[in-house]
Amino acid sequence: MECFIIEGPNIVTGEVKISGSKNSALPILFATILTDDKCIVENVPELSDIKTTYELLAYCGKECFFGFNRFEVSQSSNIKTEAPYDLVRKMRASVLIAGPMLAKYKRVKFSMPGGCAIGVRPIDIHLDGFKKLGADIKLEEGYVVMSAKHLHGAKINLKFPSVGATENIMMAASLIDDLTIIENAAKEPEIVDLAEVLNKMGACIEGAGSSFIKIRGKKRLFGFKHRVIPDRIECGTFMILGALSGRRLVIKHGQPKHLDSLIRKLKMTGVFLDIDDEGTIIIDSSKLIKPVNIVTKPYPGFPTDLQAQWMSYMSVANGRSIITEKIFENRFMHAAELVRMGANINIKGNKAYIEGVKKLKGATVMVSDLRAGAGLVLAGCIADGVTKVRRVYHIDRGYERIDEKLKLIGVKIKREEE
Ligand code: UD1
Repeated sequence: MECFIIEGPNIVTGEVKISGSKNSALPILFATILTDDKCIVENVPELSDIKTTYELLAYCGKECFFGFNRFEVSQSSNIKTEAPYDLVRKMRASVLIAGPMLAKYKRVKFSMPGGCAIGVRPIDIHLDGFKKLGADIKLEEGYVVMSAKHLHGAKINLKFPSVGATENIMMAASLIDDLTIIENAAKEPEIVDLAEVLNKMGACIEGAGSSFIKIRGKKRLFGFKHRVIPDRIECGTFMILGALSGRRLVIKHGQPKHLDSLIRKLKMTGVFLDIDDEGTIIIDSSKLIKPVNIVTKPYPGFPTDLQAQWMSYMSVANGRSIITEKIFENRFMHAAELVRMGANINIKGNKAYIEGVKKLKGATVMVSDLRAGAGLVLAGCIADGVTKVRRVYHIDRGYERIDEKLKLIGVKIKREEE
């Protein structure tokens, strides 16, 4: 297993370029199942989750080519409508295969994703949506088996604006020659990106980005070429790093308009933050970080995927702050690791109470999930001494060559085999 060795404290300066969005690329790659035509997706980050998607599409019989951030998918003759446990286990987003497979082949069998480090994460909202579209659903030995003789449009009101369920239903409904309406839909920028692709394929989707989405599906969908949007979570992670220890850190190829909630909170902490007309972000840390509370919420609220990074930031703020996690249960695993680095954090239910300390100290810490890992890397960058971050495979799921990007802006970081 690999780990990062970070020698701190570091001042970050120079320029960093943001990669394409993982959370946009994943559903778009699964959407290729909806057509037999060739599809080309550009700006796809090289990540282990993308590799898992490649394996899953290839397992199902799609012909894939991935290199230089370009992913091509074509049809082969032998299609399997199944997502096995070993691949779903590696990546929860594998469940996004369900909507496209159901709509295209009227049958799909996929392993239940099960729990993960950040909670139970059920898929009831996805399944409820498929049922309303006419699917028959059975559970067999840990697998969900869905089939349908005929799928039809429906009015689907989500009990929570789940990102994955909105995407799955939108993909299925695009290949149903009828009208589907999703109420209380997720509004994340990745939903808008996926809708753009589905429209390029021939569907007619209106309202993506709002909580009311209207999908007029078609009997047949076509190939497409698309460039995925920048990764707002990677961009936000580097912005928080800049706020922690930046001296004119320049962040390029991001999409700051997707990060309004973070930008508002960062400004309240006293950082210098400038965004030019082309979206380039320039950030300087402030000597005294003001403590600022956050509550994670669905978009456009503060993203849960930046909560761990914010916790590292607030660990060295000048006073007390509170983080309230409202999206996932059990998403404070990084807190105990930060405490090992000298942070003063108390967890009560879904709230973290953070008393800022002057300095963090290097320690050996264990990564429990992707974003927790990013938070610990940020803490390691500013801590005094050596921080060993173990189980970096979690981080490699979602950050394209984070160690190389950090090196380029002045962080002393090495990747080592344990
Ligand atoms: C997506 C993102 C993830 C992000 C999350 C919330 C991808 C690949 N992943 O995950 O990075 O942290 O949005 O912004 O895009 N829920 C149910 N039943 C369901 C579905 C979800 O109860 O059927 C609950 C989940 O357990 C969780 C909450 O709803 O508590 C949010 O989940 P959801 O929005 O579905 O997140 P994902 O799509 O899994």
